[in-house]
Amino acid sequence: DVAYLVDKFGRIARDLRVSITEKCSLRCTYCMPEEGLPAIPADQLLSSDEIARLVGLAVDDLGIREVRFTGGEPLMRRDLEDIIAACAERAPGIPLSMTTNAIGLEHRAAGLVRAGLSRVNVSLDTVDRAEFAQLTRRDRLPSVFAGIRAAARTGLTPIKVNAVLMPDTLAGAADLLAWCIDEGCELRFIEQMPLDADHEWARANMITAAQLLDALERRFELAPIGREDPSAPAEQWSVDGGPATVGIIASVTRSFCGDCDRTRLTAEGTVRSCLFSDDELDLRAALRSGVDDHDLAMLWRGAMWNKWAGHGIDSADFVPPHRSMGAIGG
Ligand code: GTP
Ligand code: 5AD
Ligand code: SF4
Repeated sequence: DVAYLVDKFGRIARDLRVSITEKCSLRCTYCMPEEGLPAIPADQLLSSDEIARLVGLAVDDLGIREVRFTGGEPLMRRDLEDIIAACAERAPGIPLSMTTNAIGLEHRAAGLVRAGLSRVNVSLDTVDRAEFAQLTRRDRLPSVFAGIRAAARTGLTPIKVNAVLMPDTLAGAADLLAWCIDEGCELRFIEQMPLDADHEWARANMITAAQLLDALERRFELAPIGREDPSAPAEQWSVDGGPATVGIIASVTRSFCGDCDRTRLTAEGTVRSCLFSDDELDLRAALRSGVDDHDLAMLWRGAMWNKWAGHGIDSADFVPPHRSMGAIGG
């Protein structure tokens, strides 16, 4: 019997996002501090078997219908293929996807497909090499291109490209869109949320969806076509009459918390009910102390029941969460 992950506001979580590492090959300024995040000791990370067990019970007992692996950067885990294979075996038929920066994906795409990965979303903010190096503090754009092309060749499609809007990259937004259309990727722009490790986010400096639309409409003809489904974060526009599209995730100016269908596991095995909620439940401790699947599922339900209404970025008493995006997984 399935007991859904429902909260006080009647939302049901059907989408599980699993962060598997805090490590990353880049240092995007809006996400990670220059020196990276403090390393999680190996024994505090969930193992591939533990991840598969939690994913399995989330699917069997809690009604989860889709699993996304995030980080940090999932490719930083050498056992990523084992994690995917273990989850694919434990939860057959459930789409397994990954949000990645694509660095090194070139060499692993085929193996990931064999393990059971369905598709990838790639984080890419600019197609200008110098700008990329500045924003990510690493000169790795060619590796990202190679990774995206390998994903396309091996069928990790449709590939969605996520671009966080920053003042520095707004001028290149139209070039990024043209590149994505050429490569057959679905581009989505994201309003920057206050989840940077350095806590430098300020609403006044944030590029909004409205500013982006103005910039893109200088080069493309856009027409609104709505959301793929009601809980999808992105609103879509057709580009130059279609079939190409561009999406906008207006997390701040048009927040979609009321339709949120997500639950999250951190790399250390805590349940996080919202990106912005530091209130976490330690499932790893329960799992390692011998709690059975049924009781783990009930603990998870309890953690989700208390999910709050939304991030409240606009409220006067908003405090950014303790963890930055790199430690939650987007
Ligand atoms: P698809 O199913 O592939 O469309 O995935 P997705 O859009 O759910 O996932 P992805 O990992 O690509 O996330 C895209 C962006 O949406 C993230 O980078 C975040 O900026 C934002 N996002 C993801 N989850 C949440 C959430 O729960 N709340 C808010 N406010 N933003 C989110
Ligand atoms: N605001 C919005 N999105 C962010 N991401 C990272 N930091 C932020 C932020 N502060 C995005 C990444 C990636 C996903 C995991 O989260 O670009 O696409
Ligand atoms: Fe790494 Fe992605 Fe954060 Fe950039 S946005 S530092 S690629 S986790």
